[in-house]
Amino acid sequence: MKAVVMNKVGGTDVMEFVDRPEPAAAPGHVLVEIAAAGVNFMDIGVRQGMAWGEIPNPKVLGVEGVGRVLTVGEGVNDLGAGDRVAWVYAPGSYAKYHSIPATSLVKVPDAIDDRTAASVMMQGLTASHFATDFYPVQPGDTALIHAAAGGVGLLLTQIIRLRGGRVIGRVSSDDKIAIAKEAGAEHVIVDTQGRFADEVLRLTDGRGVDVVYDGSGPATFKGSLEALRRSGTFCWYGPVLGGPGPLDIMSLPKSIKIGYATFFDHIHTPELLRVRTHQLFRWIEDGSLKVSIGGTYPLADAARAHADMESRVTTGKLLLIP
Ligand SMILES: NC(=O)c1ccc[n+]([C@@H]2O[C@H](COP(=O)([O-])OP(=O)(O)OC[C@H]3O[C@@H](n4cnc5c(N)ncnc54)[C@H](OP(=O)(O)O)[C@@H]3O)[C@@H](O)[C@H]2O)c1
Repeated sequence: MKAVVMNKVGGTDVMEFVDRPEPAAAPGHVLVEIAAAGVNFMDIGVRQGMAWGEIPNPKVLGVEGVGRVLTVGEGVNDLGAGDRVAWVYAPGSYAKYHSIPATSLVKVPDAIDDRTAASVMMQGLTASHFATDFYPVQPGDTALIHAAAGGVGLLLTQIIRLRGGRVIGRVSSDDKIAIAKEAGAEHVIVDTQGRFADEVLRLTDGRGVDVVYDGSGPATFKGSLEALRRSGTFCWYGPVLGGPGPLDIMSLPKSIKIGYATFFDHIHTPELLRVRTHQLFRWIEDGSLKVSIGGTYPLADAARAHADMESRVTTGKLLLIP
């Protein structure tokens, strides 16, 4: 089968489109023919050596996708050939076939197409956790969202609006303003220099926002602190772009609450995976949540998808089609 591997840690040049042996369904696993694989910023982090050091190279990249069940392994009773399934954390998803633990799969409703479902597994589950658990957004709350036209950003904006909150978005270029506003951002600030805080304070009459969602690395950290209200909440979530460095807890201003939200802590049981995914699927089915697919690439062009995402030109979800 065809798959995209990384041969060593590095830039997009370490990614190769190769032939690999077709897997079989291991016990407790399901063999899936992949219809669409999601591209996530974390895949760039893996390629750069920030994770998966324990998996030997060459290794197949990607964690997310949607496909059709071909065969089920011993002990799997709740899935069968032909079922459409989606998953969010199955290393090796940039491929034509994958053997995935049955507990990592959710069934996709008929009304939701493959590409839409593949687009919300990582970014949608992350966004729903951020707005409902990490900081339960209340009607009237104002949130600042960085990279507001990106995959997480567009879904998070809509979920906050569904909960009655307001959104101020921050993006890197003018052409992303309309996209962020279409998702529901009331104001969109264009900035790449970390100078957005004054504008956020102006837009909130000097008070600051209730919550900031910042996955944009060290450049935005200081401004995000400044943009928060007294006792506001800082959701930090962008490990790939780098951290703010060591923090002195007594230097944190305004009695804020700050945390690093990692995926494994928000979706840590099969039950949570099912409940949260069903909520996302319901929102999509009733039209409350629109999924924006900013680019589809043949699987062979995975390196181009990574390069595009890193160059800050993409919006919404990027998908690879085997
Ligand atoms: N902790 C978690 O559970 C979790 C889960 C999913 C994703 N994430 C994180 O969420 C963030 C967004 O991920 P995503 O998959 O949804 O990607 P994405 O937002 O679709 O794309 C990345 C966005 O980040 C910005 N960006 C790209 N390169 C950048 C750079 N060199 N410096 C600063 N900003 C840059 C761009 O926005 P602008 O150009 O408009 O700034 C771009 O739209 C990433 O940091 C990812 O690691 C975390």
